[in-house]
Amino acid sequence: MIIFAMESSCDETAAAVVSAENDRFRVLSDIVSSQVPIHALYGGVVPEIASRAHCEAVTNVARQAADQAGISLSDIDAVAVTFAPGLIGSLLVGVSFAKSLAYVLNVPLVPVDHIRGHVAAAYIEHADIKPPYLALVVSGGHTSLYHVTGHNRFEEIGGSRDDACGEAFDKVGRVLGLPYPGGAAMDRLAAEWYEEEAKGRKNGYSFPSPAVADDSFDFSFSGLKTAVINTVHNEKQKRKTDVLPDDVRREIAGAFTRTVAEGIGKKLIAALQATGADTLVMAGGVAANSHLRRTVGEICRRRKVRFAVPSLRLCGDNAVMIAAAGYYSLLDGVRADSSLNACASDEGSAQVLASLKKHTENCSPYENHSDL
Ligand code: KG4
Ligand code: ZN
Repeated sequence: MIIFAMESSCDETAAAVVSAENDRFRVLSDIVSSQVPIHALYGGVVPEIASRAHCEAVTNVARQAADQAGISLSDIDAVAVTFAPGLIGSLLVGVSFAKSLAYVLNVPLVPVDHIRGHVAAAYIEHADIKPPYLALVVSGGHTSLYHVTGHNRFEEIGGSRDDACGEAFDKVGRVLGLPYPGGAAMDRLAAEWYEEEAKGRKNGYSFPSPAVADDSFDFSFSGLKTAVINTVHNEKQKRKTDVLPDDVRREIAGAFTRTVAEGIGKKLIAALQATGADTLVMAGGVAANSHLRRTVGEICRRRKVRFAVPSLRLCGDNAVMIAAAGYYSLLDGVRADSSLNACASDEGSAQVLASLKKHTENCSPYENHSDL
């Protein structure tokens, strides 16, 4: 089956064509048009500018995806689209475009939750992974831990009580003078610190753990973020400068990143024990972090838990992951009619998916119901 997928929940307009058969995926095209250079001017995503940029890019991105895949539109069997959660204006652009495409082609329209999409990225390169497993999504908007018991059955067992992990990386990056979004640059800065550490330097900074000190599988990044921001301000005052020396920035980035990875690791160990899961999927933009990948990889290796983390390209927002999630939704009978709307919140997303599932329970997965 050929799936055409679209993603526009935040600041990336993406389209992909993926061939899926018997749980095996072949990526025929993967186009991502990033708005980062635009939002970097403002130090963060400006929602209205994001919607407008999606509107400008969407047709070209979709056309490129079809061209690169070497398919004609009539080859498409289903259109999958991120409908939630995210910036509402951004989501609406992708949803409207995908609805029109599915209507014109008379193929099923499959609504996909962005977070489940991130998790499904793992299926692309690890085709043998099957539920049940534990999934950690670490992105700019989420830090969530799920016990996944079916391709479409997600039980959220933990998550951040305040800021998302990526948000903390971006804010710390900003006070350290890194361009938006700070995550990838923080990764490089911390890596430079770990090289110094390997030569014997000791890190003088210690920050509060994001692992909430109770039996839950929850995180809190706001205390950690504030502690790092205060440290940066104090260091600047002490030195009577607005720009910290590179070695201090490296040391702070290294201490922050280690604190994040160890805090996440602590809750992962507890969640692996509680669920008895033998597989861990880690996904989302922050899953690209080299130190986090190493730390979590080591935790899994020691416990003989299979560790599935997408390659770097598939960690950030993309439409390939939406195609993979859409495939399993389609097999489960989930599809939308022409009244599909976008939804900003996690709760709204769960409600829409539950109602769609109910409506389509008795339909054949391949049957098209453009209006249920
Ligand atoms: O999943 P994603 O692309 O978008 C959302 O769904 O939010 O995640 C974006 C987040 C940003 O906060 C970005 O700074 C962070 O992922 N990120 C990283 C790295 N690469 C991207 N954070 C830490 N280390 C990285 N290498
Ligand atoms: Zn994302």
